[in-house]
Amino acid sequence: MRFRESWDEIAPVGRDAGSGGYLRYALTEPELRLREWFRAQADLRGMPVSADGNGNLFAWWGDPPGDTRDGDTGRAGTGAVLTGSHFDSVPHGGAYDGPLGIVSAFLAVDELRAAGASPVRPVVVAAFVEEEGARFGVPCLGSRLLTGEIDPDRAAGLRDAAGVSFADALGARPAGADPALSDRFAAFVELHVEQGRALVDAGAPVGVASAIWPHGRWRFELRGEGNHAGTTRMADRRDPMLTFAFTVLAANKEARLRGAHATVGRVAVAPNATNAVPSTVTCWLDARAAAPETLRELVEAVHAKAAERARRDGTELTVTPESATPLVTFDGGLTGRLAHLLAAPVLPTGAGHDAGVLAARLPTAMLFVRNPTGVSHSPAESATDDDCAAGVVALARVLEELACR
Ligand code: GLV
Ligand code: MN
Ligand code: MN
Repeated sequence: MRFRESWDEIAPVGRDAGSGGYLRYALTEPELRLREWFRAQADLRGMPVSADGNGNLFAWWGDPPGDTRDGDTGRAGTGAVLTGSHFDSVPHGGAYDGPLGIVSAFLAVDELRAAGASPVRPVVVAAFVEEEGARFGVPCLGSRLLTGEIDPDRAAGLRDAAGVSFADALGARPAGADPALSDRFAAFVELHVEQGRALVDAGAPVGVASAIWPHGRWRFELRGEGNHAGTTRMADRRDPMLTFAFTVLAANKEARLRGAHATVGRVAVAPNATNAVPSTVTCWLDARAAAPETLRELVEAVHAKAAERARRDGTELTVTPESATPLVTFDGGLTGRLAHLLAAPVLPTGAGHDAGVLAARLPTAMLFVRNPTGVSHSPAESATDDDCAAGVVALARVLEELACR
């Protein structure tokens, strides 16, 4: 297996020299280079590539796609086994979140071929677009479009920080749902670096996912009155930064009270001047919980506390939901089968994945590869080459089980 060799080919792409993290935003230069790498890897292996018109790519081993025009995911009725993940990163993200699933998928195909296996059903390696939502705000945008989870017109109009729309970045209005999806694909298995320490604690290189916590993103816009820092009396201020500070603390407290997770990791301040009381503060709440009711209660509690504080500060608050992902329980039969096949532990996760979106339409499972630091969405994310190789072998066994018998 040539894990390191493959990995070294993509490792420099989009890496920030300062932080050592990655800036691989969807459809920007580094991610476009990785897509070229994807096509080259597919070519090397004689795997035709199809595109679904939503920004997602598919490389086929087995029956070739009927047509590779945009809007055609590949030949319908083939009951192919889909694997893969995403190339895009969060700002200054880790190397493994996403690309590991794509690199491992190509290497798993190599393993199967070297072992003389041939697919009864095609094996398809996918690269999904904008999984992190770091550029256009909605996570798993490619898989949501493919499954019909998001309206193509809404997706087309999403804008990045520079005002570029998703449609312009893609070069077309997205094609939207593939009505033949569940006919085209019999199952989806996404391999991903683990984003916590459960596999470290279990002493296992590879695990199988059981569920994804329900989660979502909410935009909080806090409007006050911009004014002079030196001349505006404290009592006269309508300062949205105060409402913001209280909201962040409330989110942390309300999440702790419920055993849930709440994060405010992004904030925009206008006019963002040292010597001006801000006129507007916009922040994004990421909230997650094991149960949907807990998540709903958490967000309601944060909203209520922010609104109460806004009244005291003389500011105005608008809360807009930007994305929602329901509780995902992966296909029990498939998950149990893979856990048995790999003798691997089964674990839930609080992280979102394209697999969570695809799970609504296809029998879906996930494999996790141990992460010694347990850190993710950070340059400190890690995985050893040995564990990555174990992940490839595990994925090859799974694909053999699902596609070659
Ligand atoms: C994606 O990695 C997410 O969980 O937000
Ligand atoms: Mn991620
Ligand atoms: Mn990911």
